Parts: sequence; C-alpha cells; structure tokens
Amino acid sequence: MAAGKILIEAGLRLAERGVEEPGLNAQWLLADALGVERLRLLAEPDLPVTAAALAKFEKGLVLKEQGLPLAYILGWQDFRGLRINVDERVLVPRPETEELAGLAADFLKGRAGEISALDYGAGSGAIGLWLASEFPGLRLTAAEISAGAIDCAAANAGALGLAGRVEFVNASSLAAVTGSFDVIVSNPPYIPTGVIPGLSPEVLSEPLVALDGGGDGLDVARMLVKLSPERLKKGGALIMELGEAQAKVLLAAMPPETWVEKKTFKDLRGVERFVYGRLNG
Ligand SMILES: C[S@@+](CC[C@H](N)C(=O)[O-])C[C@H]1O[C@@H](n2cnc3c(N)ncnc32)[C@H](O)[C@@H]1O
Repeated sequence: MAAGKILIEAGLRLAERGVEEPGLNAQWLLADALGVERLRLLAEPDLPVTAAALAKFEKGLVLKEQGLPLAYILGWQDFRGLRINVDERVLVPRPETEELAGLAADFLKGRAGEISALDYGAGSGAIGLWLASEFPGLRLTAAEISAGAIDCAAANAGALGLAGRVEFVNASSLAAVTGSFDVIVSNPPYIPTGVIPGLSPEVLSEPLVALDGGGDGLDVARMLVKLSPERLKKGGALIMELGEAQAKVLLAAMPPETWVEKKTFKDLRGVERFVYGRLNG
C-alpha cells in the first residue's frame, strides 16, 4: 500500500478517537515505522509501505488511540535540535520549556569565566543538557527526586557525549544540593493537586511527581525561591517556568532586598509563564 493512502485512513481513525493533530501524529508514526524523514511522506505519497512497517505503524497507532504521548511511542522528543530520549519515567519536554532554556542561555551569555548551572527537577535532562551542549565550558548539576528520571537523564547525557560535565543528584529539596551556580533553572511540577484528575489521559500517562505541585501548584517553586540565594553565585539568577497566573504570585513572594532584579516573561502564546530573579553582584 502507498504511504499517502495509509496516512489518510490513519488520520481519520485518530480524529474519530479525538486525538489532537491526527494527521501529524499519523505522519510521525509512519515515518518512524518506515525509518524515513517525516517530510518525505508528504513529498512521496506513493512511497510503498512494507508489511513489516505497516505492522509497526499499526502498533503505534493503537498506542496513540489509547492516549499515549507520541514521544513515548517514538521514544524521543526534539528539544531545541537535541534528540532527547524519553519514556514513562519522565515528563515529555514541552515547547515552552525550550523557551525557558533559551532564557537561561541568554542570561549565561553575560557571565564571564567558568560557568555552572543547576537544572532542578531535571526529568529527561532536556534543559540542562541543551545548555551544556551550547556552552562547552559549562558544568551542569542535574537534581531530581525520581531515580528513574535520573537514569533516563544520565543515559541522555551519555548519548549526547556530555556525561563528563554533568553531576546528578537525587534530591527532594535544594537543601540536598551542594555547590554554587551562575544560574538555577527549573521547570518544577506546577499543576495544583485539585486540577490533576481533570487532565487529559495523555498528560495523566506522565509521572504524577512531574505534574503535581501541591495545593496551589507552587510547593517546589516556593522552596526554590527560599533556598536559591544560598546556592547562587553573586549576581546569579533563578529562572523558572510556571503555569498560567502563577508567575505573578511567585514574583510577589520574592523579597526585593534579596532579588535585586525580578521580572516575569511571557511565552510565545502570550502567557506570563517565566519568573526571573537575580541576586546582587
Ligand atoms: C515538570 S517536570 C520537568 C522535567 C524537565 N525538567 C522538563 O522540563 O521536561 C518536573 C520534574 O521535577 C521533578 N520533581 C518533582 N518534585 C521534586 C522535588 N521536590 N525535588 C526534585 N525534583 C522534583 C519530577 O520528578 C520531574 O522530573
């Protein structure tokens, strides 16, 4: 059978199940099954699909119909051009988190000498590993509460040739992390506990510990605001991603005598999502 016809049928099938972006999901799954670039499928709708590829595609399609994130089915997610391997132990890195990593990079460009970064709640390691790939002199500490996530991030560090510059710390609080950093960057769990049951099956297939931020969603973020000043170098910054309507709340909890510069940034959709605070120095 030809790829184009298979894609049309699969797209309709996913749409009937209420899968978002059914056509795009079908393209990624078929490209993966065939081992070709996704765009080739669009350029060559007559591309023949072998029985083996069709069987693999069908398996992926069923998992997608069941609500599994595409990245778990493929086993990877692109993050600012880096291939980050992911599975059920870690959150799938989101596009807005690519923006968070960009903000941290912008800050680090202004720092002189050896630079060090802490990725707190590192998950797959996407943010910190991308920073390490951008700044060859950067030393990265990746802190995580989940041992499974640390294993995943460590494997990613190895696959990207960055393992020699990364230290992993199994921690449930910043109090368990030593060292001092130019930047602490974090995409903490920030969904309020009460909101969790209403999330889509797709999001609920991700680790609860990566989602649940406590009563108002800000438990880990507040802890970072409180403890970061002891872990930042002079003039160092804490940069975090939060949910809608949370950034302003957290900004108000950052004392101006400690955070001499503090502000929020909007994401590309216009949501005030990122909180930035810098120490004196
Ligand atoms: C929203 S996910 C972000 C993962 C990854 N940084 C990303 O952006 O894709 C939050 C991560 O924080 C971790 N985490 C949750 N509570 C934590 C805590 N108290 N201390 C350290 N890590 C924590 C979770 O296991 C999860 O990997």
